[in-house]
Order: sequence, then structure tokens, then C-alpha cells
Amino acid sequence: MLRIPIRTESRNYEAIIEHGVLARTGQVLAKTLGNASPAFVITVLPVRRRWGKALSRSLEAAGFSPKFIDMRDGETHKRLSTIDQLAENMVRLGADRKALVIAFGGGVVGDVAGMLASVYMRGVKLVQIPTTVQAQLDAAIGGKTGVNLRTGKNLVGTFFQPELVLIDPAVLETLPQREFRAGMYEAVKAGIIGKPALFDQLAKIPIKELRQDANFVTRAIAESVRLKAEVVSADEKEGDLRRVLNLGHTLGHALEAATEYKHFLHGEAVAWGMQAAARIAVDTGVCDNATYERIRDAVHTWGPLPDVNIQNTKALKLLRSDKKTEAGTVHFVLPKKIGKVEIVKNVPESVIISALAEIRRASRA
Ligand SMILES: NC(=O)c1ccc[n+]([C@@H]2O[C@H](COP(=O)([O-])OP(=O)(O)OC[C@H]3O[C@@H](n4cnc5c(N)ncnc54)[C@H](O)[C@@H]3O)[C@@H](O)[C@H]2O)c1
Ligand SMILES: [Zn+2]
Repeated sequence: MLRIPIRTESRNYEAIIEHGVLARTGQVLAKTLGNASPAFVITVLPVRRRWGKALSRSLEAAGFSPKFIDMRDGETHKRLSTIDQLAENMVRLGADRKALVIAFGGGVVGDVAGMLASVYMRGVKLVQIPTTVQAQLDAAIGGKTGVNLRTGKNLVGTFFQPELVLIDPAVLETLPQREFRAGMYEAVKAGIIGKPALFDQLAKIPIKELRQDANFVTRAIAESVRLKAEVVSADEKEGDLRRVLNLGHTLGHALEAATEYKHFLHGEAVAWGMQAAARIAVDTGVCDNATYERIRDAVHTWGPLPDVNIQNTKALKLLRSDKKTEAGTVHFVLPKKIGKVEIVKNVPESVIISALAEIRRASRA
């Protein structure tokens, strides 16, 4: 059992990672929380169908008397009306201030149930049990919760830390292959930011082999969680340090937005964003050519990514309107070398345009 501490101003807690730990959730929770309060498990049908029994058995055995509440699956249901519905259901099921909310699903469930816990009766306890790669190595860590508005993603939300994050890589077995791969690009990202050994290993293993290697999957998730925990512990609320986690995301978000979030999975857009960041870094003298090539090659070892068709003007416009843009300056997180990044403002437009040209070209090769 791996325990990774996360220290924030509002709370210190742990991410626990172990293959098969889902079956021992009740035990682990009882130990962490000290007592067994009524648990309200927020989930989606695909997760409950496959893993709900294992979780409810374990919670029941430890005295948590769990009640499951489904929300509709998918990013389009990550919205305020879902919080409203879930909260009404909680009241109907008798949830009071002592209720425990368990977020059991991917990043969508984590963000919605996290926000629900932060506002339900002005805040109840929360435990994250993430079930996608994306959620296990990223979304469930750090305490950001939120929902989308029609006008944009993640525009309403809270910072709310859980009591515990319980990560069982065994539940990834039922995840569609495309989702698995997309999430693992975030592990590549973690490698470039600060885990060079992880990067080296990921860069040379085919994705199918990686998936079959349970120890490797656990390690890749654990190392990524460790990186995020280190960054978040130093900077809970998105100051300059937390920004390093956005490697590949500046352009990645623009690619997602330009295609109405339908063409790329998030991690796939981030993969293209990492190649673009590496190109920008070599063109501005931030990294050497060898580093650029290693990142480019790593992005492509797991097979073709959805193609890039974005026009330069559209991309530049989206980059300037990104939520993280300050006074019109786009910040790029750029690799200095594998394991070290730096934040650069004022990247010349011509450099961005040639990076865009490169990923468009690469997607047609
Ligand atoms: N809060 C944060 O810091 C943070 C960080 C990164 C991403 N996010 C958010 O996370 C969301 C994306 O999360 P995601 O990629 O996990 O998507 P998701 O939650 O939509 O899950 C993807 C799909 O996989 C299914 N699924 C989940 N677990 C499964 C399992 N074990 N077996 C089979 N199917 C399973 C889901 O039902 C869904 O259909 C976005 O809304 C994003 O904004 C938040
Ligand atoms: Zn991401």
C-alpha cells in the first residue's frame, strides 16, 4: 500500500494507492475517519454496474450503510442542475451534516460530487474514489471542484479537499482503451515536469504492454500523483508554481475548444499540446533539439492521435481568451529538459504559428 501525503492550508490528507484496495474501502475509511457515518456514493451507471457491488459490500461490512445516487454520465452533465438534483436526492435519503459523500467515478463525477460535498449543508466530508486514469492521477488530487457553464468549462467551482483519495488501479480494467491511453498522456506530462525516470519508461513501452503490466500502471499513477501532490502542497490555489501542471494544456485547451470538445479526449489534446510546447521551447532556446525530439517521439509512440485542423487565427484567438490568460499575455509552460519546465510569457506569435503548423503536419503524416 502506497501512501502519498497531500498538505494544504485547509487540510492534510493522503492518497492511498493499491491494486485491489476497493474491496477494503470500508476498513480503510473507518481507520481514516475514525467512525462510520452514513455514506452517499455519487456515481454513474457504467461504474456502478461494474464496481458498485464490491464497493457497497466493503462499506456495509464496515458499518457505513451506503446509499448510491446515480448522476447521468458524461461531460454535458457536469453542470449546476446536476448538483441541484443530487442535493435534492441526498435530502430525500436523509443526509444531514454528518453525511459522507463518496465520489465514485471519473473526473466528471469527482468534480461534481466534490462541489456537491463542499456546498451541501455548507460542507460535508468527502472521499474521492477515482475510476479513470485521468481522475486517478490528476482530477481527484488537489481539491479543485466545479461544473461547466454554457459559456465555458469549469467556470463555477470551489476548492474543497477530501478526507482521503483511494486509488485502485484494478478498476481501470473495464475502461475503454482510448480513455486509458488518453489518461496516460498525463503521466507523460508528469514525467516531463518532474519525474524523468517515469518519462523514460513511458517513452519506450507500447501502450498495450503498459496496460497489461499492473505494477507499471500502479507506478505510473503513483509517480504522477506524487508530482501533483508535491506541487499542490507547495501551492494550493494556482499561484505560479501550480501553473507548471499546465504543460501541454495551453494549446491543448484551444484544440479542445475549437472542436467543441468532441474530437479529442482531453489527454489526446494535451499530447499535441506537449509536442507544440516542445517545438516552442526549442525555437525560443529554452531546450535543446534532443529534448524536443524525445518529447515529440514519446507523444507518438502510442499510435496516431486525432488529427489537428485548427486555423492559426482561431487558435491564437482561443489562446488569448483562455481563462488562465492574464491581461492578454499567454503563458506557456515549456520544457527546459526532461524533468524540468519553466513558465514563459510573451512567446512570439510567429513561434506559436510554426508550432501549430508542425502538429498539423504531424497529424497528417
Ligand atoms: N479537478 C481537477 O483538478 C481536474 C483535473 C483534470 C480533469 N478534470 C476534469 O475531469 C473530467 C474528465 O474526467 P475523465 O476523463 O475521467 O472523464 P469521465 O469522468 O467522463 O469518464 C470517462 C468515461 O469513462 C467511464 N468510466 C469511468 N470509470 C470507468 C471504469 N472503471 N470502467 C469503465 N468505464 C468507466 C465514465 O462513465 C465515462 O463514460 C473533465 O470534466 C475535467 O475538467 C478535473
Ligand atoms: Zn489535463
